[in-house]
Amino acid sequence: MYSVPKLEDYSPASLDKAAAELLSALEAESQAAADAKAFEEFRNRWMARKNGILSQINDMWLKPAPGPSKRDVGQRVNALKTAAEERINAAQSRAAGSANDAKLKAETVDISLPGILRPLGVKHPVLRVLDELIDVFVKMGYSVAEGPEVETDYYNFEALNFPPNHPARDTQDTLFISGQEKRAQRDRLLLRTHTSPVQIRSMERLKPPVRVICPGKVFRNDAPDATHSPMFHQIEGLCVDTNITFGDLKGTLEHAMHSLFGSSVKTSFRPSFFPFTEPSVEVSISCPFCGGKGCRPCKQSGWIELLGAGMVDPNVFGFVNYDAQKLSGFAFGMGVERLAMMKYDVDDIQQFFYGDMRFLEQFA
Ligand code: DAH
Repeated sequence: MYSVPKLEDYSPASLDKAAAELLSALEAESQAAADAKAFEEFRNRWMARKNGILSQINDMWLKPAPGPSKRDVGQRVNALKTAAEERINAAQSRAAGSANDAKLKAETVDISLPGILRPLGVKHPVLRVLDELIDVFVKMGYSVAEGPEVETDYYNFEALNFPPNHPARDTQDTLFISGQEKRAQRDRLLLRTHTSPVQIRSMERLKPPVRVICPGKVFRNDAPDATHSPMFHQIEGLCVDTNITFGDLKGTLEHAMHSLFGSSVKTSFRPSFFPFTEPSVEVSISCPFCGGKGCRPCKQSGWIELLGAGMVDPNVFGFVNYDAQKLSGFAFGMGVERLAMMKYDVDDIQQFFYGDMRFLEQFA
């Protein structure tokens, strides 16, 4: 390694030679400093105030110089120091630059690589039909209302004009919450068997006029098969105002069916019974697949039964303190899976709940 030599004489040639040797040693050492630590050592070795090579040349070259050459040697030593410092600084910024380059290189992202493909989810077909229906009614000025899935006997039955122990309750295959025997019957909890209790909750909450649509899950003690499921979805509608007639019910449902299945489907209303409507009807549409000729979805009949409906029974208004003398209304309720099965020609309701991707991907 370089160390500062004693000068043999102070002739310009000998001074030039010593200066050139020093600079070339400095250059070689700076090249050899491979990392930041080595560079720091190199820099100290040369530049340290105390005993760095550049301070040594003062002691070794300038101090012993004979009087007449002092001035010349002094100038040379200063020039040499400046040149050496410039080189060290240049080497330092070169080193910093290449460290930066290396860092940038390591951080480079190859934007031409294909990204991570995340498959987008889609709406479940049941939800799709549900949302479509909600949309149809929202456009007619209905708002969406929801109620609890665990309901009391009062809202699920009593306020809907199902008298206690009335046989109509038996048609609902109710799932009761256990351990409720100590409670009064109207307070006993059950899994709601239909979305109709939301009619009552909505009328309790709102002053007439009322136009609500109530989507949600309902539960029945049915063994699962191709057309039954212990959990399914319904959508309920309720319209209460002055002078609401059966004609309004027909027109509203006809419009909804046209929006869902196209304007060529016909609707049919047949008398039926529900405790909370009087009169009550079963509504069917002409089969949208065969146009009424008869096919598999309509079981060759040309018609498909879609929903229950009717004019709100005045007794129901009594439960929510609505004036049955001034007000009238209609209500309807339909099964969403049934609609979805029709719309997408699905022959087993269980398909909606298996979570089988081969089935679900068809709706993507
Ligand atoms: N809640 C009835 C059911 O689940 C369906 C229904 C019928 C709802 C007539 C109504 C209605 O609002 O007016 O079978």
